[in-house]
Amino acid sequence: MDLYSGKTALVTGATRGVGRIIAEHFLSEGASVIGFARGEPSLTAAAYHHVQVDLADPMAIQKAFLGLHKQITRLDIVVNNAAVLTSQYAMIMPPAAAQAMVNVNLLAPFIVSREAAKFMRKSKWGRIINIGSMAVSLEPIGDSVYAATKAGLSTLANVMAKEFGPMNVTCNTLGITAIESDMLSQLPRDKIDAIIAGLPVPRFATAADILNVVDFFAAEASSYVTAQTVFLGGVN
Ligand SMILES: NC(=O)c1ccc[n+]([C@@H]2O[C@H](COP(=O)([O-])OP(=O)(O)OC[C@H]3O[C@@H](n4cnc5c(N)ncnc54)[C@H](OP(=O)(O)O)[C@@H]3O)[C@@H](O)[C@H]2O)c1
Repeated sequence: MDLYSGKTALVTGATRGVGRIIAEHFLSEGASVIGFARGEPSLTAAAYHHVQVDLADPMAIQKAFLGLHKQITRLDIVVNNAAVLTSQYAMIMPPAAAQAMVNVNLLAPFIVSREAAKFMRKSKWGRIINIGSMAVSLEPIGDSVYAATKAGLSTLANVMAKEFGPMNVTCNTLGITAIESDMLSQLPRDKIDAIIAGLPVPRFATAADILNVVDFFAAEASSYVTAQTVFLGGVN
């Protein structure tokens, strides 16, 4: 049997990069997948339902969930993956860019997780997985707000783990290292290469590295694994 037969998963930022990798994996393992992004869908599977929503707008997220309540009866797995990055010295970071990172990277996962938990409460089963970053540990110059939002994701998951634990809903965070994507291509390659060279396992992350931990957190057998952050590549 497929790993996710009968399960419904929501992946934010499912159109590109890591979110698309995760959404395709869930689909290939038998899940129904809902993808959130601002843009058009890039997946066309019958079991894929795309919702165009700007996660920077809390009201738009609430509206998207109102729509979902008319379309689905259960939501088992949520991956808070969508994020934006503006890497810039604090002294010249545009406030609007800082605000966008707070809204999309931290506030949206809070609202999405809370709304998802309303489904999960009914079925008394759920897995909430946040996609964090090595930036939390490495604290690179230029990433003050980005790293802070990613650190906040772990805190969010850890507190929600306590609140949702009695509903059999786990909340965990996966701190990934560099992987080719539109977001990564915004950064100077020499800066990324230097960071990667300093990791205990000095290479980029692969899709398999990420999916391995996503599957672990999402597994039936992981009901006793919650409020944890796992970093790839030996980052700690
Ligand atoms: N790539 C890396 O090296 C790396 C390293 C560490 C951590 N991460 C983390 O991994 C996750 C995925 O990153 P990625 O590299 O795959 O990013 P990406 O290629 O830039 O993709 C971002 C996804 O998020 C969606 N998104 C962005 N802003 C949105 C908004 N306001 N509303 C709705 N959707 C929005 C995008 O779709 P639309 O543009 O259509 O909205 C897209 O599907 C992020 O949490 C990132 O922080 C990535």
